[in-house]
Amino acid sequence: MNEIRLFSPATVANVSCGFDVLGFCLDGVGDEMVIRKIEKKGIYITHIEGADLPYDPKSNVAGVSALALYEAIDVDFGFEIEIYKKIKPGSGIGSSAASAVGSVFGMNALLNKPFNTTQLTEFAIKGEALASQCEHADNLAPALFGGFTLVKSVSPLQVLEIPTPDNLFAVILHPQIEIKTAEARAILPRDIPLSDAITQWANFGSLIHALHTSDYDLIKASLRDVIVEPYRSRLIPFYDEVIQAAAQAGALGSGISGSGPSVFTLCEGHAAAKAVAKQIEAVYRNSDIAFDIHVSKINTQGIKVIG
Ligand code: HSE
Repeated sequence: MNEIRLFSPATVANVSCGFDVLGFCLDGVGDEMVIRKIEKKGIYITHIEGADLPYDPKSNVAGVSALALYEAIDVDFGFEIEIYKKIKPGSGIGSSAASAVGSVFGMNALLNKPFNTTQLTEFAIKGEALASQCEHADNLAPALFGGFTLVKSVSPLQVLEIPTPDNLFAVILHPQIEIKTAEARAILPRDIPLSDAITQWANFGSLIHALHTSDYDLIKASLRDVIVEPYRSRLIPFYDEVIQAAAQAGALGSGISGSGPSVFTLCEGHAAAKAVAKQIEAVYRNSDIAFDIHVSKINTQGIKVIG
């Protein structure tokens, strides 16, 4: 096999109370990438569609992660990368992570899988760091492992796979404005009050327990963020209205997806998710901001080969 086509999924990082450590994988929303083995040594980005991104591999997220893997092997051939971006950069649903994991997942497959998923995440972190100027893996891990993942530590990298309740669906509102992750990180406080930390880790622990036990009421009670949301929500137009509309329509809870502007909502069941999407849409329809809404089952497979 010399060529592989991939679906590289969008992801939701943070999940309210799990800043920088928790994430989950979406279905149906993601980039496509083609990775090809070629005779000439090196990494080459030969085609990009859907976004204005650099072709120089050292300046491109997919290229940087590919170079990290390439430096770890000793081969007399190279790789070409084609990127078909469907996830807008700066949308908050893991656009850079999808690019970063696509190249390394595809190369690993063409090399007959010398690296495990944790090692692939380590290569991909190098690409993600180019985009967000910090090494975090809360989008990369769910894109590669699927489902919910908890990044226990970045160095050394340790990823825990958290079970996904069967009937859990996500609604993603993507207002089409751009928020750069690096800027959304820069507005966060360096120090936080102990009382907020206590609330946050209580919610985080109970969310993890709720996911293990498929306890939807406890998921609902745990989806709160008292640390990051107060700062970042100001960047998202009609944020409070969206959260309120989702809650009234029966959502388990909502929050900022990654660094925004996308907003995620978790729901029990597809019908509930569709009802929530309708109410959220009503909030944005009267604004002059273009937006997309996706209803997605949690994708427990993660990145996959499509050809
Ligand atoms: N945890 C990161 C942040 C995710 O919120 O800054 C960025 O997508």
